[in-house]
Amino acid sequence: MSEKPHFVVVANRLPVDRIVAENGDVAWGTSPGGLVTALEPVMRSQGGAWVGWHGAPDEEVAPFEHDGYDVVPVPLSALEVEEYYEGFSNSTLWPLYHDTVAFPEFHREWWDAYRTVNRRFAETTAELAAEGATVWVQDYQLQLVPKMLRELRPDLRIGFFLHIPFPPTEIFSQLPWRREILEGLTGADLVGLQVSGAASNFLRLARTYLGHRVEKGAVHLPDGRTCRAHAYPIAIDTQGFADLAASPEVIAEAEAMLDDLGHPDLLLLGVDRLDYTKGLRQRLQALGELFAEGQLDPSKVVFLQVATPSRERVEEYRKLRDDIDLLVGRINSEFSGLRRSPIVYRHAGFPRHTMAAMYRIADVMVVTPLRDGMNLVAKEYVACRPDDTGALVLSEFAGAAKELRQAYQVNPYDLNGMKDVIMQAATDSPSASRRRMRSLKRQVAGHTIDMWADAFLGDLAGPDA
Ligand code: ADP
Ligand code: G6P
Repeated sequence: MSEKPHFVVVANRLPVDRIVAENGDVAWGTSPGGLVTALEPVMRSQGGAWVGWHGAPDEEVAPFEHDGYDVVPVPLSALEVEEYYEGFSNSTLWPLYHDTVAFPEFHREWWDAYRTVNRRFAETTAELAAEGATVWVQDYQLQLVPKMLRELRPDLRIGFFLHIPFPPTEIFSQLPWRREILEGLTGADLVGLQVSGAASNFLRLARTYLGHRVEKGAVHLPDGRTCRAHAYPIAIDTQGFADLAASPEVIAEAEAMLDDLGHPDLLLLGVDRLDYTKGLRQRLQALGELFAEGQLDPSKVVFLQVATPSRERVEEYRKLRDDIDLLVGRINSEFSGLRRSPIVYRHAGFPRHTMAAMYRIADVMVVTPLRDGMNLVAKEYVACRPDDTGALVLSEFAGAAKELRQAYQVNPYDLNGMKDVIMQAATDSPSASRRRMRSLKRQVAGHTIDMWADAFLGDLAGPDA
């Protein structure tokens, strides 16, 4: 490792995941999810260090260099994976922060594990960072780190970014440890959120539960410090995706894919982590009805859905996997021809170039989360379109809907409404749909991940409130 880093990202996930096979073979793969997609290009251009978990339980891994920056693995025991990661992070906070679309569970021992692991991340970072370094803590798994880190290293500039929604008072108040979470976050100099409503929620809650003065977008702490909060909608490496999608290899892959799919008249696409917040059940139900009613012809239309396996030991995710298998099976058993099925479903993660090929050939991209902090898939689709064709159907409950105004917006709870909008997206006049895509492309080209990082880091380095 080089000398102490002046820029450190701290996230539960590292950009790469250590996969240990049953025979003991070890491989590294790209970690799942939008956080890694967004932050990887930032780290590649900034350099520094990324502190995070490498994805395997009970394993100590030494720091190493990756893509021009240092990777510093934090170990988690199998019990911590269960209680901190699958438990408090993904069975308490994840559903709570996503509108309680699944029931959040509250367990005191999970909270204890969350505190212990947050302390480990804070201590690792405190030992690593150079004097006066900038530390950028990421996401809901590490909300206690800003305060813990400040206590250990008051010289650091500390930012925090939440990739998922920050809930309103009515929901956040359920959390037995709401004060501690807010105290943890206000340890940062700057808290970034995806949308302005989330920033207002955070500021209001800090006033309500911590009793601090809140003025002009900042919490004023009794020790004279301030913690500012502001929306920084996250973005993607637009040019990187566009270049990839335009490469000869991806064009060839896209052609081969179309051959495999039998060149349908209309190709609809869904791309998600297999997560209950993504509205997959509703999407499949809507499409099933469109096939049943003959609005979509199952012999001429294909819906391609790829879903990355995610958090597979958490009960809600297991249930979801079974439900989706069942729904897809039912629709296909009813509407398949002898040679072709209307739904092609793969429960797998794919390399970036394959995703780009899918985005290239999809006539309609269907993104229907019940709640989503941002949703990068929607932006990736737009970035990968080679021209002004293609249509994006987008849930109004995704943060991205605030920016991608010209998408065909839907309320995923309204099945009839969603069916109508999917049909509109599929059948709109070329001029109407091109107008929308042009506007979407302008938005995605004009708001890139570099701009996002510069805006946040510029404000973090700037004067306090
Ligand atoms: P989340 O962060 O909740 O998973 P986002 O839409 O913000 O949701 O980001 C998902 C990221 O994961 C995107 O970069 C997308 O390309 C990637 N992704 C989603 N599904 C797959 C898949 N089946 N194979 C490979 N990558 C995927
Ligand atoms: C979302 C979260 C990230 C998380 C990712 C993948 O994007 O905001 O923090 O890393 O999902 O989930 P996982 O549990 O596999 O890290």
